[in-house]
Amino acid sequence: MRIIKLDAIDSTNTYLKKLSGGGNAEDGLTVVTSLQTNGRGQMGTVWSSQEAKNLTFSVFKDASFLNIKQHFYISMAVSLAVYEAVKSLGITKIKVKWPNDILSDDKKIAGILIENVIKLNVISGSVIGIGLNVNQTDFTGLPAASSLLLLSGHVNDLDEVLTIVLKQIDIHFNYLKEKQFKILKARYESHLFRKNKPSTFKDAEGSIFSGYIVGISDFGQLMVKIEDNIIRSFDFKEVVLLY
Ligand code: BTN
Repeated sequence: MRIIKLDAIDSTNTYLKKLSGGGNAEDGLTVVTSLQTNGRGQMGTVWSSQEAKNLTFSVFKDASFLNIKQHFYISMAVSLAVYEAVKSLGITKIKVKWPNDILSDDKKIAGILIENVIKLNVISGSVIGIGLNVNQTDFTGLPAASSLLLLSGHVNDLDEVLTIVLKQIDIHFNYLKEKQFKILKARYESHLFRKNKPSTFKDAEGSIFSGYIVGISDFGQLMVKIEDNIIRSFDFKEVVLLY
């Protein structure tokens, strides 16, 4: 598995997308950098990360055994991979905030940006970008963020953590290949942040409402129980969990 190490780049996702042009790259090809000058988050947000303190990398995975309707299973597999990786490093109280933020003790320690290449209803390849806060301790202006160091008290070697995460991604992509969708979904739901807890949401129209997260649909939608017999399902971009 080839790993390209760069001192600085705008965004490892942007770089790997170009490199794998059209989804034809070697499975597992990885790009990691010490500094991103234009790190991208979900929904057009910015991902900032202190130079050389954290992991910012992207990995290309062959996903040609999945069709577009199954795209959320990639999200589940990668979330679970990061979950297992940080757990093996001694982190506790880990939750997955839909769709794929990794939290510990209610603070975000990793973000995931997945950009798929689609050809004729098939996901020919997936560029999986991960920002994992490892050794950063100053999160001024980001009160909801944390790092492995802040949570565990241990400084981690970035190369070692990268190896652990990549191994977990391989393991979880094998589950995808074996079509173990039910197991992946059950595990993902068991780690879901604020599941069955009274929560407040904002929908795409800006309306605030209360409900309980009850699970994830087969297509990756967030299912929220609004009233006794009413469950609403939301696509990504249609709802924000406020608290
Ligand atoms: C999010 O939580 O909004 C997703 C953040 C994803 C950040 C990673 S860092 C490596 C890769 N390159 C990017 O530009 N973004 C992802």
